[in-house]
Amino acid sequence: MASGKLEAICVAVLLAFAACTVRAIHASSSCTRKLPCGPKTFSFYMHNTVYDTTVDNRDYFNSIYGLPPNISFPNPFGFGIMNTFEDPLTVGPSNTSMALGKAQGFYVLNGYKEYTLFHLFTANITEGQSKGTIDIFGQLREVDPVRLLTVVGGTGAFLGARGLASCTLVDMDHTPPAKWTLSFELDLYY
Ligand SMILES: *[C@@H]1O[C@H](CO)[C@@H](O)[C@H](O)[C@H]1NC(C)=O
Ligand SMILES: *[C@@H]1O[C@H](CO)[C@@H](O)[C@H](O)[C@H]1NC(C)=O
Ligand SMILES: *[C@@H]1O[C@H](CO)[C@@H](O)[C@H](O)[C@H]1NC(C)=O
Repeated sequence: MASGKLEAICVAVLLAFAACTVRAIHASSSCTRKLPCGPKTFSFYMHNTVYDTTVDNRDYFNSIYGLPPNISFPNPFGFGIMNTFEDPLTVGPSNTSMALGKAQGFYVLNGYKEYTLFHLFTANITEGQSKGTIDIFGQLREVDPVRLLTVVGGTGAFLGARGLASCTLVDMDHTPPAKWTLSFELDLYY
C-alpha cells in the first residue's frame, strides 16, 4: 500500500474517533443535570375560614372573596368570583395538629351551572423533614369526592417536582363564617 494512502486512512480514522469523542462528551454533559430525588409522597391538611361581613370575623380568617361580577341577572354559583387564601397547613386533620407551613394562592369560581373551582397555589413547607415549596394547579368540581390537581413544580426538597395532588374535603361547616378542611395527598416524580 502506498504510504500516502495509509496516511489518508489514518487521518480519516483519527477524525472519526475525535468526532465520536466530542459527541460522547457532549451527550454525557447534557445527561449529567438531573433533578435530585425528593419525597415520593407527601400529604398535608389545609384549613380555611372565609371572611364574612355578616359576622365580621376580621380577627380570624384565611381567605377573602373578591367583588362579584357587575351583572344584573342571577349568578347562583358565583361565576367569576375569586377567593384569595393564605391557609395554615398541618400534619393531621385537626387544626391544632402539628404545623407544616402555609398555602398561598387563589381559586376562581368558573362554572355558571355548578360549583367548579380553578385553583393555583403554592404550599410553603417550613416544618418537618422536607422543606420547600410545592406548586399546585388545576380545575375541580365541588361534587367530586376526590379532586385531582397537578403538581407543576417546587423548590427546596421538592425541586422540580411534578405529579398528582389528590384532594378531598375532610370537614365543612357552613355556619358563618364558613370553614373547611381539605386533605392533599401528593404523588411526586422528579
Ligand atoms: C356596574 O355596571 C353599571 C352599568 O354598566 C354601571 O353603571 C355601574 O357603575 C357599575 N358598577 C360598578 C361598581 O362598577
Ligand atoms: C380550630 O377550629 C376551631 C373550630 O372551628 C376553632 O374554634 C379554633 O379557633 C381553631 N383553632 C385554630 C388554631 O385555628
Ligand atoms: C416560606 O416561608 C419561609 C418562612 O416564613 C420564608 O422564609 C420563605 O421565603 C417562604 N417562601 C415563599 C416562597 O413564600
